[in-house]
Amino acid sequence: MSNRTLPKDFFFGAAMSGPQTEGAYQATGKLPNLWDLASDLDITKFHNRVGSYAGNDFTHRRDEDIAIFRDLGLTSVRTSFQWSRLMDADGRLNPEGARYYHELLAAFRAAGIDLFVNLYHFDMPAYLFRRGGWENREVVEAYANFARTAFAEFGQEVTHWFTFNEPIVEPQQRYTNAVWYPYHADFAQARRVQYGITLAHGLATQAFRQLQAAGTVRSDARIGLINCFTPPYTREDPSEADLEAVRVVDGIDNRWWLDLVTKGELPADILADLEHGGYDLGVRPGDAQIIAQGPVDWLGFNYYHPARVQAPSRTTDEHGNPVFAEEYVWPGAVMNESRGWEIYPKGIYDFAMTMHDDYPDLEWFVSENGIGIEGEAAGKVDGVIQDDYRIDFVRDHLNWVSKAIEDGARCRGYHYWAVIDNWSWNNAFKNRYGFVEVDLEHDYARHYKKSADWLRRVTTTHEIFQS
Ligand code: BG6
Repeated sequence: MSNRTLPKDFFFGAAMSGPQTEGAYQATGKLPNLWDLASDLDITKFHNRVGSYAGNDFTHRRDEDIAIFRDLGLTSVRTSFQWSRLMDADGRLNPEGARYYHELLAAFRAAGIDLFVNLYHFDMPAYLFRRGGWENREVVEAYANFARTAFAEFGQEVTHWFTFNEPIVEPQQRYTNAVWYPYHADFAQARRVQYGITLAHGLATQAFRQLQAAGTVRSDARIGLINCFTPPYTREDPSEADLEAVRVVDGIDNRWWLDLVTKGELPADILADLEHGGYDLGVRPGDAQIIAQGPVDWLGFNYYHPARVQAPSRTTDEHGNPVFAEEYVWPGAVMNESRGWEIYPKGIYDFAMTMHDDYPDLEWFVSENGIGIEGEAAGKVDGVIQDDYRIDFVRDHLNWVSKAIEDGARCRGYHYWAVIDNWSWNNAFKNRYGFVEVDLEHDYARHYKKSADWLRRVTTTHEIFQS
């Protein structure tokens, strides 16, 4: 069988974020962000006690890393501007931070790589978190001010903007699963945070449109949102209760954002459920107008794993939170044991078909996909990590992307998460995602892994090679 291909204008790139790569955490007048705060408070929460401070040393290796992206045939890269670097504690532009990002944009431009800019990657300035974070309207307004300032300052330089990366993840990781600081398990708080982020997105999108109409933002610029949509599955012979579990999980995690960015609304069934359960989102008069500003020009789809759920065996958990679903362990699941995530390449196709059927007007791209493996440096041959599993993973996902495009999906490109290994929140450098190794024993030196050569062949030919 011949190899599948991707369209000529399909783009390949890399995804990364400011807080996971930049380091230089006290340079350029940067304020502490939530990760610096969590690292200061309790470093033992981080794998091998590696906190947020150094990233993957990108700031010192910027030009080297850009040369690597170029050499691998990538034409776009997404990172985030750190709120805590660009703004001062009075909510004004920090000139040193602005210079940092102007230089960053110029360096990518000089290399012919389009830098996509995201404005929030789980990295609230610590002082705003102390004021109540996303539950406080002043903080929502502060984000809108940050977004407006960034659009005004970089409006002639950036063509691809995103308001948020994975807005569902802070509600999950910080306020439901208690794995990220402040380590809470509180359903009601998680929903209030989700609602605050939703308003922040609406205000930022509104500011973008206003500044674009005024000519401050270039006319060819686009605004988008990126989320980790999890295609939902249940048992093959589901009960009514299993399907109900799918509805709620899909509604909170996926449809909430999809309705926001296509219709400027939130899903009525989920709002009704929350009201019925007595959960107060803190809705104020005028919010519907903010949410109506939510529609975007295109969408980013981060895909790592599906969601498999079934009817729950209890209605509340040990914290008193409601339980709408519990995990369904699919007997056929193939796992990435390092991360505990199922590998299911067809999920990318199933999501593509959901977009095709339910949200047909919206263009999108795969904004993250990748595999993080623990301990891979142990298996080096002649100094090179032998990561054939990474080739298998990306190839299988790209094959489904190719099929989805053939079947009408409006998918325009693919960004791999962490082309160069980077710092992964509480997991720090435990699981490595890169096609390029970051050698922590030797001052963050970069080394190609075996898979890098395969990636270059795919990006430069658009043919999805077997190996
Ligand atoms: C995405 C995030 O959720 O997945 C990244 O946008 C993150 O920030 C990536 O690093 C991989 O997940 P993790 O938890 O293994 O780092």
